[in-house]
Amino acid sequence: MAPRPVMNDGLVALLAGGGVRSGEALARALGISRAAVWKQIATLRKLGVEIEAVAGQGYRLARPFELLDAGVIATLLSDAASARIASFEVLRSVDSTNARLLAAPPPPEGCAAVCIAEYQTAGRGRRGRSWVAPLGAGICMSVAWRFTSPPPQLGALGLAMGVGAARALHSLGYGLVQLKWPNDLVAGDAKLGGILSEMQGEMDGPAHVVVGIGVNVDLPKAARESIAAAGNPRVTDLRELSDGAVPARNDVAASLASGLIETLARFEVAGFATFRAAWSTLDVLAGEDVVVHSGERMQEGRACGVDQDGALMLEHEGRMQRIVAGEATLRRA
Ligand code: BTN
Repeated sequence: MAPRPVMNDGLVALLAGGGVRSGEALARALGISRAAVWKQIATLRKLGVEIEAVAGQGYRLARPFELLDAGVIATLLSDAASARIASFEVLRSVDSTNARLLAAPPPPEGCAAVCIAEYQTAGRGRRGRSWVAPLGAGICMSVAWRFTSPPPQLGALGLAMGVGAARALHSLGYGLVQLKWPNDLVAGDAKLGGILSEMQGEMDGPAHVVVGIGVNVDLPKAARESIAAAGNPRVTDLRELSDGAVPARNDVAASLASGLIETLARFEVAGFATFRAAWSTLDVLAGEDVVVHSGERMQEGRACGVDQDGALMLEHEGRMQRIVAGEATLRRA
């Protein structure tokens, strides 16, 4: 296997803010040769970053982005979330934020461990898929929690976290965000993000839960194409939802982290019951004809919300079926 390209953090920081920088100025600032700059530019391009070469002037990002900064995010967190943070890290690159937190010891009771990465080399999606997010193009975040005695309906935690994430995005002005059972953040029929909950522990003993969220912020065309080629539905990003304005990624990260941590704290005491009504108001499938794929099985019917355990209620020829896992698609999409 070819070695993974290693990004130059300094180069990322110099280019992220936008503007054209000559190869010579970059080489000087980084203390490397111009040939080395050229190689590093090629590496960033391999990681999905669109870099334009401006004739006679130098390089610039096609889509400048705000670098994630732990210090800035910390100042933007809600007080309720801040009070519960046991550890908080922002990494430039990691295999998967979920994998990293699952491999670490769980945080102390009632506290959260948060890991955010600019780039994941092996981002994990639901149902064994991978999660694609080029450098600077999304938010990749995981939050770990330790449930000493698992609350009721732990299987519906991902749905509750969807409510927390959607509310966080609404508070930033992305009012069109809805939820698609079980764990997608959507705007209309386009996927904006997704949630992946993973767990270690026994069913009725202490559980170490890691909830990962990926949100598309400003996806380059090539990334959209590769996501579509992998058989994914239509995708959207926050930039599209704000008519082209470049989102402030630290604000987005802080709001999502606050929403997810507050949701975990509330879920621990009340389970899914306090989130179910809110979930229903965000349910993009409600009353729609859908197709649900669960493993080899395919079921059609009208989506009628979720039950107290987060299972999808599907009505077909007058009979109500309960679906606990699967992938739902709108028939009109
Ligand atoms: C989905 O398939 O819709 C769920 C995607 C979840 C992606 C996030 S990105 C941060 C965290 N780390 C991972 O490896 N996956 C989740």
